[in-house]
Amino acid sequence: MADRLVSGDLQQDDFEVSLRPKSLVDFVGQSNTKENLSISIQAAKIRDEALDHVIIYGPPGLGKTTLANIIASEMDVAIRVTSGPAVERAGDMAAILTSLQPGDVLFIDEVHRLNRVVEEVLYSAMEDFFLSWMVGKGLAARNVNLRINPFTLVGATTRFSMVSAPLRDRFGSVCRLDYYEPCDMEIIVDRSARILEMDADDEGIRLIASRSRGTPRVANRLLKRTRDYALVKADNKVNGLVAKAALDQLNVDALGLDRSDHRLLTTIIDKFSGGPVGLDTLAASLNEDPDTIMDVLEPFLLQLGFLERTSRGRVATRRAHDHFGKSYSVSDISDPIRFEGF
Ligand SMILES: Nc1ncnc2c1ncn2[C@@H]1O[C@H](COP(=O)(O)OP(=O)(O)OP(=O)(O)O)[C@@H](O)[C@H]1O
Ligand SMILES: [Mg+2]
Repeated sequence: MADRLVSGDLQQDDFEVSLRPKSLVDFVGQSNTKENLSISIQAAKIRDEALDHVIIYGPPGLGKTTLANIIASEMDVAIRVTSGPAVERAGDMAAILTSLQPGDVLFIDEVHRLNRVVEEVLYSAMEDFFLSWMVGKGLAARNVNLRINPFTLVGATTRFSMVSAPLRDRFGSVCRLDYYEPCDMEIIVDRSARILEMDADDEGIRLIASRSRGTPRVANRLLKRTRDYALVKADNKVNGLVAKAALDQLNVDALGLDRSDHRLLTTIIDKFSGGPVGLDTLAASLNEDPDTIMDVLEPFLLQLGFLERTSRGRVATRRAHDHFGKSYSVSDISDPIRFEGF
């Protein structure tokens, strides 16, 4: 199976890969998603059929890629990995689909970025395991129809609302990943610390977990930095004090906010009087890409209640002002209209 694992389109950090849970049992938290997937997987195995198509969505670093790999390994099939922008032509998608063995998982990351012609090839493939696409142009054009092996498409996205309706409707299971609860974060940090053979006490684990913004990838990164700090400055032992010193040194505050978050919020508060300010104006002011602001920075700030997306733009809330010790004026965000469709 391993020799058929193709992941050429994605670059994976070795460190992340070694900490990646390999089975549903090792996958911490997200109990509802896990339970639903487990039932679907068991049922598909009993029926000896390919698992129904699954779409997984949620902010970066919460475990979408990890779950896709787990699905393949629990189903005991190979996984083929690609991403939305990597598949440019209908023929490329057809080539991938025809190469799949019965039951294989095709993992498409950033599935919202597939272009329309490629998506159209997927529709009949997902529904009937049948390919139908046009080859050539003008008089030489002809329609090619081909039966393919049953497979499972696992799509991942940080932007569920940008997945086209026809594609979305063809996924049998929709899994939403949420930020992890503090108790789950502690289990994740503890598990990673054990894998890395670190000498870390409960207080140190708890502190790293509490500053990891409910995100396993952040937790693993902070743990690794703390490990470096402990090696150089603290006899290779991590306790609460060492972890705090390491994370303070990285400018990660008690809520897990780092320099980028601080810059975003203080820009809204200081430059734009707390907002509202449009995303593009904010991005230009921060010299940052609007997509990065929206996909990477904002979700956690929204979750914390530090930011509001309103129809007139982004607004820093009273909580955000309090966190930075800034005075807050109610008129700044009088009656914000919530803007859901981003
Ligand atoms: N439930 C979990 N339990 C333990 N570790 C986890 C869990 N989910 C994720 N991780 C860890 O977090 C890392 C990041 O997860 P992953 O790459 O799957 O995130 P992602 O949702 O695909 O992110 P992106 O949107 O950036 O692609 C993994 O390498 C893994 O070690
Ligand atoms: Mg991923």
